Amino acid sequence: MLFTLAYLYLCPMKILFATNNAHKIAEVAAVLGEGYTLLTPRDCGLTEEIPETQPTLEGNALQKARYLHERTGADCFADDTGLEVEALGGAPGVRSARYATDGHDFEANNRLLLRNLEGEENRRARFRTVVALILGGEEYLFEGIVEGRIIDRETGDEGFGYDPLFVPDGFDRTFAQMTAEEKNATSHRGRAVRKLADFLRTIEK
Ligand code: IMP
Repeated sequence: MLFTLAYLYLCPMKILFATNNAHKIAEVAAVLGEGYTLLTPRDCGLTEEIPETQPTLEGNALQKARYLHERTGADCFADDTGLEVEALGGAPGVRSARYATDGHDFEANNRLLLRNLEGEENRRARFRTVVALILGGEEYLFEGIVEGRIIDRETGDEGFGYDPLFVPDGFDRTFAQMTAEEKNATSHRGRAVRKLADFLRTIEK
């Protein structure tokens, strides 16, 4: 762990991302591009689940980033995402990970979402991601939103979470039927992380 922390300080292009979700890491690494190497909490010897107990996406993203920063001192960022469904008053929203159960059970979440939308004509929904960055001790927030609709059965094998149920506006396929590149080009996380990348580039100049 000491070696990793020392490495973080010596190589400013390395940045710590508060997730161990392999899908997210791949998505974010692709958007940030070759100029950055992402490190995960596990790379720093942190194996516990990072708390996310706040009532908003902004609060959770900041909570996760602060948790990592307090333990490593490193520049880092965290994201939090919610699926906001119009007919459900914005649910599952900040509770998207634990909609059906206490754990991250993607299939149970999708089943519950379909059950709650049964007979509902309004299928409008959006994904919203908030990224919290701590850089040089300062905190910054970036938001990415993609609008779309929820279809009535899971379609596609790519991605994760609610991807098989979400068709972004302007497409006739779910995120789970897209390549990683296609999803990144339109997705909530892609948009938020591009804002982060643009910001990091201006800071480096
Ligand atoms: P997180 O807190 O950012 O990990 O996201 C909360 C939950 O939202 C996850 O457990 C997933 O169910 C869902 N989610 C987050 N990002 C995506 C995505 O890109 N596609 C589909 N579902 C997602």
